[in-house]
Amino acid sequence: MISAAACGKIILFGEHAVVYGRPAIAVPVTQVQATALVQPRAHGLTIHATDIARTVKVEPHNLIDPLAAIVNLTLAYLNCPRPQLEITVHSTIPIASGLGSGAAISTAIVRALAQFAGRPDIAPEVVSQLVYEVEKLYHGTPSGIDNTVIAYQQPVYFLRGEPIQTFNVAHPFTVVVGNTGIASSTKKAVSDVRRGWEIDPARYEAWFDWIGAIVQQARSAIEAGTLDRLGPLLDQNHVLLRELDVSSLELERLILAAKQAGASGAKLVGGGRGGNMIALVNDQQREAVIAALKEAGAVNVLVTEIQ
Ligand code: PMV
Repeated sequence: MISAAACGKIILFGEHAVVYGRPAIAVPVTQVQATALVQPRAHGLTIHATDIARTVKVEPHNLIDPLAAIVNLTLAYLNCPRPQLEITVHSTIPIASGLGSGAAISTAIVRALAQFAGRPDIAPEVVSQLVYEVEKLYHGTPSGIDNTVIAYQQPVYFLRGEPIQTFNVAHPFTVVVGNTGIASSTKKAVSDVRRGWEIDPARYEAWFDWIGAIVQQARSAIEAGTLDRLGPLLDQNHVLLRELDVSSLELERLILAAKQAGASGAKLVGGGRGGNMIALVNDQQREAVIAALKEAGAVNVLVTEIQ
């Protein structure tokens, strides 16, 4: 039996604007993960997603269903004769919540199949490219940031269409991630932003430029270790995401609670309208912010150190 895993991710700065060619910063979240287990079988090729109680018979050439598609694309890349297998996937990453669950499941499957085919050293750029093809099925017009950060499993500065840039985190810092418990479709949020941009391109382009400038400043603050600059930048990024109309009452409630409990900055992460938010904390603020988020209705809170 072979198994492989992939981590979750958060976008620290720049979601939505990244779809329009502005930079974004994303980091892996290793406290949550997707795993794929590959077991030889006498007949057929099936994939079983335990969390959503779904079993898919993987027909050759099925490039429509995301689970079947990642299996078929990976087998084609590996140039491997069609195996008789059962693949079981399981994930502790909440679905549709901005933590990259779809990309992590696809990544775990690619890695497990590569191991099965005797190619455990499959390059991250290949994994990322295969997963990107399937992200299109989930999201329509993904920027590619999710598959990149999850396949490389390190902090990335991402610019659509450009080679990946990793960067140095001068001083580790901690974010608390609070889940509203509201599942939200990234595809819908992205297409609503697109509609707004089509109606008033000048206004949206200005917002995207502003977000891009925040991302640049955040990168230099992280590289220089001037972490006191990060909190206000998170707040400014969130204000712009609110302008893009991708926040929600539940996200606002958690963000306010985190700020009132002393977090130095907070914002929604990912597609928005639900899912998760993050708050930047130091050691003294951490417990109070966790308690405040739970009190304000967060269904799950996790703490991750970025280093
Ligand atoms: O909701 P998530 O974690 O899939 O993040 C989406 C990020 C967006 O910028 C809104 C879309 C994208 O493709 O980059």
